Amino acid sequence: MLTHEELMAALPHTLDKTDFPELGEKYDGKVRDVYLDPDHDRRFLITTDRVSAFDRVLGLIPHKGQVLNQLAQWWFEQTADIMANHVIDVPDPNVTVGREAEPIPIEVVVRGFITGVTTTSLWYLYEQGERNPYGIALPDGLKKYDRLPHPIITPTTKAAQGQHDERTTRDEILAQGIVTPKLWQEIEEKAIALFMRGQKLAAAANLILVDTKYEIGMVDGELTLIDEIHTPDSSRFWVKDSYVPGKEPENFDKEFMRKWYAQQGYRGEGTPPTMPDEFRATIGGRYIETYEKLTSKLFEPYHGDKLGRIRGNLSKYL
Ligand SMILES: Nc1ncnc2c1ncn2[C@@H]1O[C@H](COP(=O)(O)OP(=O)(O)O)[C@@H](O)[C@H]1O
Ligand SMILES: [Mg+2]
Repeated sequence: MLTHEELMAALPHTLDKTDFPELGEKYDGKVRDVYLDPDHDRRFLITTDRVSAFDRVLGLIPHKGQVLNQLAQWWFEQTADIMANHVIDVPDPNVTVGREAEPIPIEVVVRGFITGVTTTSLWYLYEQGERNPYGIALPDGLKKYDRLPHPIITPTTKAAQGQHDERTTRDEILAQGIVTPKLWQEIEEKAIALFMRGQKLAAAANLILVDTKYEIGMVDGELTLIDEIHTPDSSRFWVKDSYVPGKEPENFDKEFMRKWYAQQGYRGEGTPPTMPDEFRATIGGRYIETYEKLTSKLFEPYHGDKLGRIRGNLSKYL
């Protein structure tokens, strides 16, 4: 773990954006700078320190990009026996070179618990009286934070940039011919297997993997995990020994940030308030803590010029 002073000292060195036109055509994700290299069927994913919530970029968090990239890398290794992944190379702590995939335009969301605050969250829908959200039958009498009888898949469509994801169901996905029934069956089975592996490894770190989102694509006719996996950006984590049914557990995910925004009266509309430096440092510390708990590795911070380091590590591709 880094001290609060070390995190504060890292604030001026956050990685906001990159500019490597030699790598290929650039696409700005909310968190990653992506460079397309179609000649080699690959893309460069540079994970910056940008943080997003409410579908928008909200600021910069010290060390976040490295944590995210290295944690995703660790999880890709831990799950490669279940599903192939896009990783070709991790030439730098903030960079992954991924095989270009034909993305399946569905976010495969898996949930083990009933919780959440947004309008697509399971708890929100259930509280409104829905008993068949995402086409999945839920029993009466569930309380917020309850463990579901078994993990479920609540897919959403992948929205275009600037749009919100919309919920969908297996029936709609099949009716629209987005994937074949056989392929969707395989996606469901593998997503649940990935989630169970995630829960098992999280439990060993005294964490609960509450829910998560997978992005999947096709590479050479094979289902392939793309983007990231089981990071605090794509998943909820609760502290296992803080979990008591019916009570709000201690979390290790972006809920912490969303709550701060809610306290400022911000719920996603209009201009967001600016995060104070102290708070940005605290969030950075939480990302690092999650990484260290899960991987049992010590996070190795870099204090120099990150852009220079990245350029050097990518020189073989330039
Ligand atoms: N191997 C891959 N093949 C094709 N697309 C990918 C691959 N890996 C990641 N992506 C896409 O690259 C983008 C990564 O940038 P990110 O910052 O996560 O964007 P977003 O704001 O859309 O979440 C996402 O749109 C993701 O779907
Ligand atoms: Mg993303």
